[in-house]
Amino acid sequence: MISMPRKVIIGNWKMNQTQKDALEFVRGFLSSDPIDPRDWVGLAVPYTLIAPLTKEIEGKETTLHIGAQNMNDCTRGSFTGEIAAFMLEEVGSQFVLLGHSERRHIFGEDDAFIHRKLVRACASSLLPVLCVGETEQERSEGLTFEVIERQITKALKDISIDEVKDFMMAYEPVWAVGTGTPATVEVIQEVHSFCRSILEKTWNSEKAAYIPILYGGSVTSNNASRYLEQEEINGLLIGGASLSLESFLQIVNDNS
Ligand code: PGA
Repeated sequence: MISMPRKVIIGNWKMNQTQKDALEFVRGFLSSDPIDPRDWVGLAVPYTLIAPLTKEIEGKETTLHIGAQNMNDCTRGSFTGEIAAFMLEEVGSQFVLLGHSERRHIFGEDDAFIHRKLVRACASSLLPVLCVGETEQERSEGLTFEVIERQITKALKDISIDEVKDFMMAYEPVWAVGTGTPATVEVIQEVHSFCRSILEKTWNSEKAAYIPILYGGSVTSNNASRYLEQEEINGLLIGGASLSLESFLQIVNDNS
């Protein structure tokens, strides 16, 4: 069901954390719960951590969801090194990031590939989190809105809102990811409103108003509240600052 939590906070661990450290992190997180149940918290973790972490939270009342950072668009087959939706489901993954800027720009994933992944995710129980964002050059050339519109419309092509059980989006300008230079509130508000208008235009459905749009790119416990107090920013996708339990909890518990 598409719904708008009070806020969404997703940590993206990328290629970090041992099993021991990850379990310690999640145990620490659980001991600080109850987090406000109106909030939706997730950790997008390396594949090897999904099973142990979902086992750790199993049966516990928590706002925490465990997810993956990527998946393949095919159901199964000869795709060395890839992972399929059913494999993620089997180990308890609840969501999956799709089209993260590092996938697009380091591993060359294009809009068509991301679209096929989204189709596959919609056919599974995984909640897709579609990431979009322009590069520094695209911004300087005035192409931000064109790029964002292309990334969203190509990803959603021919997918009706009724096929989507649940869905979130993240705006992550490439120039802000991992650089220590976050986007300003004004830039994010402008792009988020634009993303919402594209979702509304594409799906022509009231449900588009309930799709959380997160911001990601150099978010820390020092700047998170500045973002969370804005109506257009429904949550945050956090890389570096999600690796420390202390800073992650500070952001999760921020009630701006
Ligand atoms: P960052 O990464 O917070 O380290 O900039 C964000 C992301 O890649 O999702």
